[in-house]
Amino acid sequence: MSRVLVIGCGGVAQVAIRKCCQVSEVFSELCIASRTLSKCDNLKKALEGKTNTKITTAQVNADNVNEVIDLINSYKPDLVMNIALPYQDLVIMDACLACHVNYMDTANYEPEDTDDPAWREIYEKRCKEKGFSAYFDYSWQWAYREKFEKAGLVALLGCGFDPGVTQAYCAYAKKHEFDEIDNIDILDCNGGDHGYAFATNFNPEVNLREVSAPGSYWEDGHWVEIPAMSIKREYNFDKVGMKDMYLLHHEEIESLALNIPEVKRIRFFMTFGQSYLTHMKCLEDVGMLSTTPIEFEGHEIVPIKFLKALLPDPASLGPRTHGKTNIGCIFSGKKDGKEKTYYIYNVCDHQECYKEVESQAISYTTGVPAMCGALMLLTGKWNTIGVHTVEEFDPDPFLDALDKYGLPRSESHEPVLVD
Ligand SMILES: NC(=O)c1ccc[n+]([C@@H]2O[C@H](COP(=O)([O-])OP(=O)(O)OC[C@H]3O[C@@H](n4cnc5c(N)ncnc54)[C@H](OP(=O)(O)O)[C@@H]3O)[C@@H](O)[C@H]2O)c1
Repeated sequence: MSRVLVIGCGGVAQVAIRKCCQVSEVFSELCIASRTLSKCDNLKKALEGKTNTKITTAQVNADNVNEVIDLINSYKPDLVMNIALPYQDLVIMDACLACHVNYMDTANYEPEDTDDPAWREIYEKRCKEKGFSAYFDYSWQWAYREKFEKAGLVALLGCGFDPGVTQAYCAYAKKHEFDEIDNIDILDCNGGDHGYAFATNFNPEVNLREVSAPGSYWEDGHWVEIPAMSIKREYNFDKVGMKDMYLLHHEEIESLALNIPEVKRIRFFMTFGQSYLTHMKCLEDVGMLSTTPIEFEGHEIVPIKFLKALLPDPASLGPRTHGKTNIGCIFSGKKDGKEKTYYIYNVCDHQECYKEVESQAISYTTGVPAMCGALMLLTGKWNTIGVHTVEEFDPDPFLDALDKYGLPRSESHEPVLVD
């Protein structure tokens, strides 16, 4: 029995909420709160009569800490699930501390305004010190460790698929398969086709920022940064087939390098089709991916926000997306003095997801782990106080929950390695 406040009602949140409502014995009461109240009300209506979870809705601007505090104080949840955007992470963490409630999210903090001079100064120092230039990093949320520890609260960071399940796969490999892990390759393949020449599978602004940034990987104790999309490999994915994939910077590399200190190299690859890459390059070249406001016919517009308004809503891709995703981790290392390799991954079918929760597999593969992470916190299976990423917790109950609630694991002890 628990009361949960979910902030956000977009593609990922809608899946997480629908999955919470399948586990009413734990998620007995749920408040869906977001910027646009009608989205929350529509979802509540769609779930009426299909769940025993008691659902309420609320409007909130999660950029305003006092609004979030008022909402938490009036609803009194056991847990706040932040499934809005990474821009709101710090505000919602502050509100959770002020109201003494546990926190979780699915993506690490990045600022909405990357031209803010105060943020930029810290960012530029971090780029020099650490050697990667992505806008997001864990330092902002790790700075809350002491505050959460002192308050006796848990903050679970990045509990989607990647980040999220990929780190649980690493913790699982470390616990059951290896004495020492030398290399980790995280492979994210979307073999789905939505029939559009160009669309993003989750929030376009967050997605395009991530993909157009320089790539980087962890090697021998430091970051190696490369121009965007400059390392390409081919891989034959189970149930999907041969795909081109590109090395990207990704947030879980940072926490894995810290929490699996013996690891020599960690890389992240994501598949992209040629049409996506050609469109993205063109949009970038003409300035449409810029976050800097411009004057246009007497109005101020932010190019990437205008682009978001033109692109299909990711939540609308569900009915038209066919094919499968395959996301997982390939490891090499040592067990009992011998070299070994191991691959653990999940295959998820876009149309199966749509039949179950009216969403494509990208939102599904993020929303289900968010629900399972909340389940771990609410049932006390994950209860280490402080600010933590997924690999810091016991992977076994979490992977069991994923097996049960729609994202079962597959394994190979003789995987083809990525060169
Ligand atoms: N870990 C992973 O594997 C993974 C994968 C994909 C996505 N993600 C993360 O999942 C999160 C959600 O992504 P999504 O694709 O669901 O995005 P989305 O469809 O754009 O949904 C975002 C939701 O947040 C709401 N929101 C935005 N600003 C708000 C504010 N100031 N106050 C209150 N609500 C606000 C939006 O409200 P409106 O309806 O008013 O716009 C919308 O309901 C993002 O943080 C994304 O980075 C993680």
